[in-house]
Amino acid sequence: MTKAAPSRAPAKIERLDREDPLAACRDAFSLDPELIYLDGNSLGALPKAAADHVARVISKEWGEGLIRSWNTHDWIGAPQRIGAKIAPLIGARPNEVIATESTSVNLFKLVGAATMVDPARRTILSEPGNFPTDLYVMEGLEALVGRKVRVRLASAETLVSAIDHDTAAVVLTHVHYAAGRRWPMARITDAVHAKGALMIWDLSHSAGALAVDLNGAGADLAVGCGYKYLNGGPGAPAFLFVAERHQSRMRSPLSGWMGHEAPFAFEDAYRPAGGIDRFLCGTPPILGLAALEAGVDLLSKLDMATVEAKGLALGDLFIALARSRCPGLPLASPIEAEDRGLHLCYRHADAYAVMQAMIERGVIGDFRAPDLLRFGFSPLYVSFSDVWRAVEILAEVLGSRAFDHPRHRRRAAVT
Ligand SMILES: Cc1ncc(COP(=O)(O)O)c(C=O)c1O
Repeated sequence: MTKAAPSRAPAKIERLDREDPLAACRDAFSLDPELIYLDGNSLGALPKAAADHVARVISKEWGEGLIRSWNTHDWIGAPQRIGAKIAPLIGARPNEVIATESTSVNLFKLVGAATMVDPARRTILSEPGNFPTDLYVMEGLEALVGRKVRVRLASAETLVSAIDHDTAAVVLTHVHYAAGRRWPMARITDAVHAKGALMIWDLSHSAGALAVDLNGAGADLAVGCGYKYLNGGPGAPAFLFVAERHQSRMRSPLSGWMGHEAPFAFEDAYRPAGGIDRFLCGTPPILGLAALEAGVDLLSKLDMATVEAKGLALGDLFIALARSRCPGLPLASPIEAEDRGLHLCYRHADAYAVMQAMIERGVIGDFRAPDLLRFGFSPLYVSFSDVWRAVEILAEVLGSRAFDHPRHRRRAAVT
């Protein structure tokens, strides 16, 4: 790792760190102090408590308790217990959220359930450029059920006018994975309801980052990632939300035994469990859930409005510094804080190589095809001084064209 910038930020930026109510949260993470980690929007950092908790679950609960731990350590209740802890972070009630499976699988369950509510409505509406898995899952459902469901995409500008009497559900990512653009949740949900359709939010880039209020917005259904701002670890279980008013009238198309009313009765016929439990499918992944629980527990102690405010302030600072230190680098995210989430994208023809050169210098962000540099500001462990140093290093990489070296252009499988 080459050091390219002086490590002390100007006094006014250091003052922001001294006044930061979340500054102490960084100590809860196992992070190299020399590293500036601006990719918590893709994979959150490791909470120290997660390492200890997972080790204990492995050695004691699994190693010693063996199968008894399903009951004695309430493994069986983990999806609901962790869901109930995620609920206040997203404005939901404890009985409206479960932690289970991946975001993709959960989305399939909810889009499938939404299209079964009113067979007269056949359209699932989304926007082009939504996160690929959201679009692919909808496409897969369309292919599975034939002409009963059709996927339609409408641009952000025309989306509301595209909702009509045929729309079963609208599927949107609250904070766009690339642009960082934020949909006004309450306004869009109202517009969807005005046409009698259901609203499904993907909160992957919002949960644990923004003060989301699903019930305040009247949302129907939602999914989101566990491994981003919830710091649940690589491939962590995701979560799903079903508003209480819909739970008894909706049915998951993935009717696995854990969603049965009596899984251990081993009946031949499927009877959906009451409440949110019917959206479970297979056996809960206990080790992944253990890591996720440690990540969620950290956030549970915090006020989400404070978390959001710091994350947006970090983004504001990055924008201001980059404007003066990297003139001509186009911002591909909204300038106004209320219009975006906690990450920013900048356009550069050599974005991949630029990011590789930054990573070599100790600033980890990521690259999104075809030409985006993406920087995420996880408020729990990114400081204002980190932002200053990251921009200094970006300016040095761009100014010296350090990214021109061929080793920075070799594409890895994961970007
Ligand atoms: C908006 C959005 N949805 C879903 C996912 C991923 O879903 P999964 O956990 O199923 O891989 C991502 C991953 O980055 C995402 O950004």
